[in-house]
Amino acid sequence: MKPLTPLLESNREWAAKVSEKNPEFFETLAKQQAPEYLWIGCSDSRVPANEIVGMLPGELFVHRNVANVVVHTDMNCLSVVQYAVQVLKVKHIMVVGHYGCGGVQASIDPTPHGMIDNWLRNIRNVYNKHKDLLSAWSDSEKEHLDRLCELNVIEQARNICETTIVQEAWAGGQELTVHGWVYGLSDGLINDLEFNAANQGEVEDQYKIAIRKIEVMRDMMRGEEETDAQSARSLWDRLNKLFG
Ligand code: CO
Repeated sequence: MKPLTPLLESNREWAAKVSEKNPEFFETLAKQQAPEYLWIGCSDSRVPANEIVGMLPGELFVHRNVANVVVHTDMNCLSVVQYAVQVLKVKHIMVVGHYGCGGVQASIDPTPHGMIDNWLRNIRNVYNKHKDLLSAWSDSEKEHLDRLCELNVIEQARNICETTIVQEAWAGGQELTVHGWVYGLSDGLINDLEFNAANQGEVEDQYKIAIRKIEVMRDMMRGEEETDAQSARSLWDRLNKLFG
């Protein structure tokens, strides 16, 4: 048996199952796609975009790279964004990070990793920018990394807003909202950071509020001894309520 035979076999089973449920599924989909969402997430195999949000083929346009980074010189990412916004006219772009991200962790690890360190430099810049804020979590490696994963999503969500593509879409009155999410590997749940920018005027406010939430989290943490017991999500639920 060839090493990939089991994969090809399960592909046949999957296609048969889908067709059985909806005989026209593939035929209809082959003619056109009309997804409303663009997902920009990490390449990590544990964060499969469609599965996490229960979406079928055709419902989600996806771009993934190491640590969900949006760089203004990355033609690959920008081409995906341009096609999604200008041709598919998606209504939402979600930047989706995840807790325990190896790329984010490696960005602050002093050990050299070779070529990828040039890519991770983008996250290292996020770390340097928020070094003071992050120092509040220096006692716990896990929480320190959690906060950097969140800050990375906030910064990359802002980067998406600042691309010429999104700027032009907004200037032309196109309906488009940029969101920031962080996925939890340990429970399969998405943590909504409630960064939601629907026009140019909202970007700076949404950015400031999101950063402010992490500052408030730091202040809340100071008054409490048992912070480790709180999951990042319950912290964010409290913060979102506070700012809601
Ligand atoms: Co990752």
